[in-house]
Amino acid sequence: MKTVVLTGMMGSGKTTVGSSLAVYFHLQFFDIDKIIEEKEQMSISKIFELYSEDYFRRLEKDTIKNIFKSSDTIISLGGGAFEDEETRQFLNENSTVIYLQTSAETILQRLKDDKTRPLLCDNMSLEKIQNLIDIREKNYETASHIITTDNKKPLEIIREIIGVLL
Ligand code: S3P
Repeated sequence: MKTVVLTGMMGSGKTTVGSSLAVYFHLQFFDIDKIIEEKEQMSISKIFELYSEDYFRRLEKDTIKNIFKSSDTIISLGGGAFEDEETRQFLNENSTVIYLQTSAETILQRLKDDKTRPLLCDNMSLEKIQNLIDIREKNYETASHIITTDNKKPLEIIREIIGVLL
């Protein structure tokens, strides 16, 4: 099966959905943020704090390049990875990209007590999240499939994705 890549905002459910899809299809699962944290022996927040966002973005881009295989894997990206043009074009050409589309209201609800997202934890507001969606949406929308996630349980989302993949 062609590799499936999940993209979308923080809190859209990429990791939950991706790991379940991997179990369902008996495929290997890669969570890019987790791979970076394990390799650097540091949380994403610490990488942002000690180095910089730019440094993290380079790690993110290299990690995607290094682990990518064109078949039989499910990859969950960090929410900002699809902003890099080269990464986006490469993944769109070589995998099935699924955008998990989630409203700012739902993201705020899900992440309001979360302290692990450096881009939001200083100022977790609806405006900040909406602003980030507005900047990123056009890139997310280049994905092969768009699946809305508001008011859906993970199982419903997983079923929907299985439906578009089979
Ligand atoms: C980011 C999303 C995070 C993580 C980092 C930056 C972003 O991943 O890569 O905090 O720019 O949206 P998740 O989307 O898995 O939370």
